[in-house]
Amino acid sequence: MLVKNAKFFLDGKMTEKDILMEGGRIKSLGHFPGNGMDASGYLVLPGLIDAHVHLRDPGATQKEDFRSGTRAAIAGGITTVLDMPNNNPPTTTLARLEEKRAIASRKAVCDYGFHFGAGTNNFGEIERARPGSLKVYMGKTTGDLFLPDDRLVFLHFQNFPKKKPIVVHAEDQTIIDTEGRTPLAARAAAAKAAMLAEKAGRTICIAHASTAREMELAKRWKKSFVETCPHYLFLNEEKVKRLGNFSRVNPPVRSERERRKMWAALGMVDYVSTDHAPHLPEEKEKGAAGFPGLETSLALMLDAYNKRQIGMEWILSRMCENPARIFNIKGKGKIAPGFQADLVFVDLRKEWKVRAERMQGKCGWTPYEGMALKGKAEKVIFRGELVFEGDAITGKSGIGKEVMA
Ligand code: NCD
Ligand code: ZN
Ligand code: ZN
Repeated sequence: MLVKNAKFFLDGKMTEKDILMEGGRIKSLGHFPGNGMDASGYLVLPGLIDAHVHLRDPGATQKEDFRSGTRAAIAGGITTVLDMPNNNPPTTTLARLEEKRAIASRKAVCDYGFHFGAGTNNFGEIERARPGSLKVYMGKTTGDLFLPDDRLVFLHFQNFPKKKPIVVHAEDQTIIDTEGRTPLAARAAAAKAAMLAEKAGRTICIAHASTAREMELAKRWKKSFVETCPHYLFLNEEKVKRLGNFSRVNPPVRSERERRKMWAALGMVDYVSTDHAPHLPEEKEKGAAGFPGLETSLALMLDAYNKRQIGMEWILSRMCENPARIFNIKGKGKIAPGFQADLVFVDLRKEWKVRAERMQGKCGWTPYEGMALKGKAEKVIFRGELVFEGDAITGKSGIGKEVMA
């Protein structure tokens, strides 16, 4: 397959070339004879990698499953998702990981990997399962995964292979219990996690950083990576107040002042994930915390790019290259010979309105409902095949494969 006249970034510079693909990979870049898909008028990005999603399968497939969730990913220009372990029951044993693998291999329309849950007593299971990534919960959130003391956190930091990432939900439970999910709860846990990681001599990732201070504290240990999510960059307390019972997310969306500080500190962000955490409207009414995000993440960033708030290199590094590097995902995150042929055709001029009813995900609502955005993923090529065009997903269930294994 051949893509003609593709505008894309190559070694940090905008270039225009044809992209020749073979066997699901990029074979070469240049100018080739023959017909192909014309990319004129689009900017071509490598498929995005979202390192933090909750696909709810098994356990809560009314909210999402591996089919609907990976279709939502593709519609948002994301061709690789890393699924979180806070299912019911949690992914804390080899048997449950294998069960998830079986489900994903039947249903997924994009590539996927799994974070394994750090339990209070599952060191043997971790050794047997040899997962590509471990998730540590320092505070309680959706599901039952939670480590009640710092000694357990440190033990996991020590035991898990140092070359593999550990992702930390950093909110301090004692502070949550006394004053709620305040910025202090987040920064105390982030600072503690970074210090324990330094002592253990390992890399960790601070998930869903919601304040600049927290990022700064995490970055005191150079091997700590910082993840943030679009809702901390594009929403504030005031905006989510209008969502009423739908406004809950862990950690919470902060004040406008904190949001601005996040923008001023974008250099400290290593990667952007969605923390796609779908719940049905009736579950939100009862207090479930979490926002869907797969189908709005790239578009929000493109809109910010159009407004000159952010550079395209920042988007490419934080949503493609860095997550590939941090999570040891080989052959992804770049448009270059030998890399997987996952390409997103972006129309930077497309003006559209966010509408939950047009989305692929199951939950049926979005915190960005009605927002006018400029820029959208219009076509997606996955493993060298066109799988998304306009509004239609043509990729078949089961074409996705496991990464990070
Ligand atoms: C997530 C969920 O619902 O799984 N919710 C959330 O508010 N972010 C859990 C989490 O990521 O903490
Ligand atoms: Zn979390
Ligand atoms: Zn999450």
